[in-house]
Amino acid sequence: LITRAFRSQFVIPDFQDFIKDIEEMYWAAKSNTDGKVASYIPQLARASNENWGVSICTIDGQRFSIGDVTVPFTLQSCSKPLTYAMALETLGPDVVHKYVGTEPSGRNFNELILDYNMKPHNPMINAGAILVCSLLKTLDKPEMTLAEKFDYVMSFFSRLAGNEVLGFNNAVFLSEREAADRNYALGFYMREHKCYPEKTNLRECMDFYFQCCSMEANCDIMSIMAATLANGGICPITDEKVLRPDSVRNVLSLMHSCGMYDYSGQFAFKVGLPAKSGVSGAMLIVVPNVMGICTWSPPLDPLGNSCRGLQFCDELIKRFNFHKY
Ligand code: DON
Repeated sequence: LITRAFRSQFVIPDFQDFIKDIEEMYWAAKSNTDGKVASYIPQLARASNENWGVSICTIDGQRFSIGDVTVPFTLQSCSKPLTYAMALETLGPDVVHKYVGTEPSGRNFNELILDYNMKPHNPMINAGAILVCSLLKTLDKPEMTLAEKFDYVMSFFSRLAGNEVLGFNNAVFLSEREAADRNYALGFYMREHKCYPEKTNLRECMDFYFQCCSMEANCDIMSIMAATLANGGICPITDEKVLRPDSVRNVLSLMHSCGMYDYSGQFAFKVGLPAKSGVSGAMLIVVPNVMGICTWSPPLDPLGNSCRGLQFCDELIKRFNFHKY
């Protein structure tokens, strides 16, 4: 790393100039007052409109952060690509995709629908993520208790994030579980259609899903996870090979086509980068072979994406040629 620094052989050689652009984009988006914080789960309704942070981590470990980058937020749907990555890594793509599809649903994230094979459409929506949780719980180290499985998943996420420690928000977890009529409906609907592996304990599987949504991190930490995905599965901070390249390719492909709710097609068209958003206002954005970005700002547009985060992505593509095509 030091040799490369002296030779200016970084993937973004003029990092100081790059940061100036990022700072301008940050301040421009800060004055955006559009959107409303998610309110369908009482604990999420307490988030502040004001919070706004952006963190960047390049594949060679250059980092920059601005704004509220150390304030914790719950992962929510940003956990979906992570549990999917873990299932691919531990069970392999053939097993995972015996149970869950790879097609955008074209519908809301929590809609009560399955695809024409009676499988959930993809792992980035609630049905698919609940299913992935059942695979991790039932097929990967099935002897583990729910408590052990929680630690096991947390430490896997932490390895994606350069061994940074994640938190857990118990109030959000309890609130999430109380306000989960739709998720339970999805869970039972999938059981009716025999979507789960044999021996799945649905109650445990739902709890595990709510726990993954309620894990906490911040922009700084999440940008390292995005950078690990940008770097073919090798964490740029620890140099640990956390994911196989084929797992990363699958995760990024589905983030690209399904990661931004019912805006995924438009986002793929306009921004052309794999990304995943969550109802806490976080967005993971991956610029393959360059860097990972995390933005966080709770006010959401009607489709559920962070308004400031989207503005930031639009501007990023205007200033730099990161669009894949
Ligand atoms: O209601 C839920 O399941 C949410 N806590 C899921 C989080 C989310 O960000 C929506 N995503 N696809």
